[in-house]
Amino acid sequence: MTVLQGGPYLSFIHRMTINKGKSMNIWPMSLPSKGIAIGRLYQEIMRCRRCSSYRRTSRRPVPGEGNLSARLMIVGEAPNNHGDRPFIGATGRILEELLEEIGLSRREVYLTNLIKCSIPTGRRPKPREVLLCAPYLEQEIKIVRPRILVPLGRYPTRYILSKTNNARGALHGIHGRIYRVKFSGLELIVIPTYHPAATFYNSRLKTVLERDFSIIGIMVQKGVF
Ligand code: URA
Repeated sequence: MTVLQGGPYLSFIHRMTINKGKSMNIWPMSLPSKGIAIGRLYQEIMRCRRCSSYRRTSRRPVPGEGNLSARLMIVGEAPNNHGDRPFIGATGRILEELLEEIGLSRREVYLTNLIKCSIPTGRRPKPREVLLCAPYLEQEIKIVRPRILVPLGRYPTRYILSKTNNARGALHGIHGRIYRVKFSGLELIVIPTYHPAATFYNSRLKTVLERDFSIIGIMVQKGVF
């Protein structure tokens, strides 16, 4: 398994662990090629000046991290202020618990965000930020080639499902459903759900998230596509 521990992209090659027996036959990009492609993308993200976020925050952008052979890619909204990796802190712990319940660890999936720079707490992503930053997510999808995308919360869901005509409406009507979406040239299964941080304001959502993750677990582990 190749696991990239995102943020400090400079040392990503040193941290790659390659289990050759398991995952070298990835078409069309081999695992080492994926590592090189994602490394280049991370460098581009770290130098990004597309919007004004780099002036607003002293924090560096946070690219995705995880298993480059992952079937499952999880897409959050934007990194919080807990450092240089996605899903660190309390939100990350909830996500890890949800993954554990379906027999997965964060090292086995690929975690990323729609927006790569942190945004002030409570502020929504601006349409211009989404427009300028989402191409990085699209590149990550093209490189990793997951089978299942799980957008967490309203903004990642809205962006990803904007690629299809058959999914409209608020999250409460579409979470946990299975959509087939053509995204970045790939046929993907998309299963939207709530953002784990939403459970801080509404604890009942934890049960809803657990139910949605059990569907995700079945899709991932039984390979139902
Ligand atoms: N941390 C992230 O990386 N993304 C989120 O959406 C929330 C916290």
